[in-house]
Amino acid sequence: MSAAAWQAVRAVIAGSPASAGLFLALAPMDGVTDAVYREVITDLDGGRSGVSACVSEFVRVCRDPAPAKVLLAHCPELARGGHTRAGVPVLVQLLGGDPAALAATAALAARLGAPGVDLNFGCPAKTVNNHDGGAALLRCPARIYGIVAAVRDAVPAALPVSVKIRVGWDSSEGIEEIAAAVRGGGASWLTVHARTRTQGYAPPVEWPAIGRARASCGLPTVANGDLLAVADVAACAAQSGCSAFMIGRGSMVDPWLFARLRGWRAEDRGDAGVAALAALWRDYHERLRAAGVSPGRALCRVKQWLRFAAERRAALTSLFNEIKILDRWEDALAVIDAAAA
Ligand SMILES: Cc1cc2nc3c(=O)[nH]c(=O)nc-3n(C[C@H](O)[C@H](O)[C@H](O)COP(=O)(O)O)c2cc1C
Repeated sequence: MSAAAWQAVRAVIAGSPASAGLFLALAPMDGVTDAVYREVITDLDGGRSGVSACVSEFVRVCRDPAPAKVLLAHCPELARGGHTRAGVPVLVQLLGGDPAALAATAALAARLGAPGVDLNFGCPAKTVNNHDGGAALLRCPARIYGIVAAVRDAVPAALPVSVKIRVGWDSSEGIEEIAAAVRGGGASWLTVHARTRTQGYAPPVEWPAIGRARASCGLPTVANGDLLAVADVAACAAQSGCSAFMIGRGSMVDPWLFARLRGWRAEDRGDAGVAALAALWRDYHERLRAAGVSPGRALCRVKQWLRFAAERRAALTSLFNEIKILDRWEDALAVIDAAAA
């Protein structure tokens, strides 16, 4: 996309990767992006966070369809029409290998008011892969086709069914075939995490492979993987040809990245520094506790955010090292406040 075209579209929140404007999704991250985290991020700047859509943490579906209780636990926003308090839609993500069980669960999610269903064919966890789930399906595009088609048929035609993949199991060589299966099954769009399953989360990301998938199947395609700053998104756009992006760990490194990408905030010049993050962590902790999360677990969640952020922000390393050994929120907060002062 040319610089002029980018300027024109970026401030417009695209409702889907197929619509005009810039689509920016908050990635699903199991154990991180629960409803509380989704709310913290989408409430930023008075609800002008820049996020187009969120995807829930995966709901594991084995032989039996998941019940409503499980869907509501993963996506409490369903009680609010499937949107965060700031009005951002939350797609319900399903993971499994059984087309009938996934289709029945997707139909239930639709009846509960999900604004879309996302299918996970990217999870690299061994336990998941050994039980016919996540990235294991990448080795069998015909099965991906069958699952997508079954889910597509089970939900109303207007409801988006998106698919999230990695570039392949151990190489991106077959990505065109996987993308064709996704398209053939009737998916609304494709999201590609630019790593293989065998890579796990190790570098490098292969953004050009996303472009190959997009060009070969013609589906609107969301690029994902190591988009941690505005410059990363620009480089990824150039290498993949995509104008839709999904950001996961980058949201912990710089929660205002979505707004920066839209031109609503200046590029990071320290405003994602300790003081601003400290205020956010305090707010996050309060919201976790209000949601019934135990004190120990809430502290772990703040430490987890800090750990992810410190991996990319050297200035946070010593703060993380001080916090990680503490057992009480009050002590951790005193250290955070001192660092922020
Ligand atoms: C802790 C963690 C949990 C994740 N859980 C999920 C998940 O539930 N569903 C999914 O599709 N991807 C999951 N992912 C992958 C992310 O959605 C994303 O594809 C990956 O982190 C690369 O994007 P990033 O570099 O922007 O973080 C997870 C990643 C992490 C780090």
